[in-house]
Amino acid sequence: MSPAAPILIFDSGVGGLTILAEVRKALPQAPVIYAADFAGLPYGTKSEAEVAARVCGLLGRMAERYQPRLICIACNTASTIALGMVRDVLEIPIVGTVPAIKPAALTTKTGTIGLLGTGATVRQPYVDRLEAEFAADKHLIRHAADPLVPLAEAKMRGETLADGAVAQAVAGLCDHPQAQDLDTLVLACTHFPLLADELRAVFGQDIQLVDGAQGIARRIASLTQGQEFERAQDDFAVATGSTESLSALTPMLARHGLMRATQF
Ligand code: DGL
Repeated sequence: MSPAAPILIFDSGVGGLTILAEVRKALPQAPVIYAADFAGLPYGTKSEAEVAARVCGLLGRMAERYQPRLICIACNTASTIALGMVRDVLEIPIVGTVPAIKPAALTTKTGTIGLLGTGATVRQPYVDRLEAEFAADKHLIRHAADPLVPLAEAKMRGETLADGAVAQAVAGLCDHPQAQDLDTLVLACTHFPLLADELRAVFGQDIQLVDGAQGIARRIASLTQGQEFERAQDDFAVATGSTESLSALTPMLARHGLMRATQF
């Protein structure tokens, strides 16, 4: 394998940058391509069939074009729906992002955990299995918070969020009869850590926010252990959709070491 073979990090939008940030810390020398499916965003309100078709089709084409050494699906919605299918069709390691229920269950003190994900993620049998395996003795309250996705995208474009918008998106969880027992929130969508400050303002500064980013970076480091890395060119982003959506993101992508952005 060429030392310049990149790690491809894929999401529907900017959420996967929360994973990229941890991958950078674990593997600063690794060449990275960040891929965003803006034309398909949001995934969380789509059907399983639509998400699976988009993700399998796009990743197949991206794997062919960029010859990555590994693909990280930095999206809980895509991973809980299509991880198995993508692994079946591609012959490189695929690392998925699934709700961090295990670490949340290990650290909660009250035993009451909130899980914020997209509508598609919170209804997945994959999440049922994680809950049964790791949190059977806990109280897991799932809440679909799809409106947080465009809010995170807007924040990354430098826009100011409307007052109360984040609170409104999570009102269903705050109004739950056991909400006062919540001490831990699983951020089961990679967009949501981008709103950590806003979520703390709603749930209180003591709430523990748990996501899988560090664990995923460790997994990628372990799967690529012993491999040579050489950055032959600047890291870059590719995206489906309009060029306007990309140009608004250029400064923020540069802060993540993605020095140019092109349409896929
Ligand atoms: N970032 C994606 C996730 O982790 C979802 C955003 C979307 O709805 O497209 O689930």
